[in-house]
Amino acid sequence: MDSKGEAGASQASAWIRRWARHVQTGADMLDLACGSGRNGRHFLALGHPVLFLDIDLSGLTDLQGQPGVELLAADLENGSPWPLGNRQFGVVVATNYLWRPLFPHVIRATAPGGLLLYETFLRGQENHGRPTNPDFLLAENELFERLKDSFHILAFEQGEETEPKPSCRQRIAAVKR
Ligand SMILES: C[S@@+](CC[C@H](N)C(=O)[O-])C[C@H]1O[C@@H](n2cnc3c(N)ncnc32)[C@H](O)[C@@H]1O
Repeated sequence: MDSKGEAGASQASAWIRRWARHVQTGADMLDLACGSGRNGRHFLALGHPVLFLDIDLSGLTDLQGQPGVELLAADLENGSPWPLGNRQFGVVVATNYLWRPLFPHVIRATAPGGLLLYETFLRGQENHGRPTNPDFLLAENELFERLKDSFHILAFEQGEETEPKPSCRQRIAAVKR
C-alpha cells in the first residue's frame, strides 16, 4: 500500500481495529459501503484480500489494480439484486451506514465461522448532529436482536460517547453459526 493507503488504514474505526486482530489469517473481507475504505485498508495492511463496495469509489482510485483488492461500484438501495450473489466472506464490516433491507444479505454474506463487525449511529444521535433521519439510526438493541439467532455475539455496546466527539453509537462483533 502507498502512503495514502497506509494513512487511510490508520483511520480505521477503533472497534474494527480491536477485532481485526482476532480474524483468521488470510480471511477475505467485505467492506460494505466502504467510503474511502479506511476499514478495508486496515485489513489489507494485515494481509487480507478485501472487496470494497460502495456506490461511489472515487476515494479508492489509489487501490485500483493492487494485489488483494477488488473494487465494486453498486447502488445498494435502489432495489437492484444484491450485487454479490451467494458469495460469502470471512469478515464483513459495515460502519457508519444503515440500510435495513440489506440485513438478510449481510447475514448471508458472512461465512459460517466468519466475523461480522457492525458499528453505526444509534437513536439519540440526532441531538448531536447528523444523521437525524430515523431510517439511518439504529433502535436500542437493534443489532443484537437482528443477529442473535444466526450469530454468536462476542461483544455488543451502545450509548452516548464523548470521544472522538459526542455521538450515540451501537456496535457489535458476532461470529456466524
Ligand atoms: C458515512 S459513509 C461511511 C463510509 C465508511 N463505511 C466509513 O465508516 O468510513 C457512508 C457511505 O455509504 C455510501 N452509500 C450511500 N448510499 C449508498 C447506496 N445507495 N449504495 C451504496 N453505497 C451507498 C456512501 O457512498 C458512503 O461512502
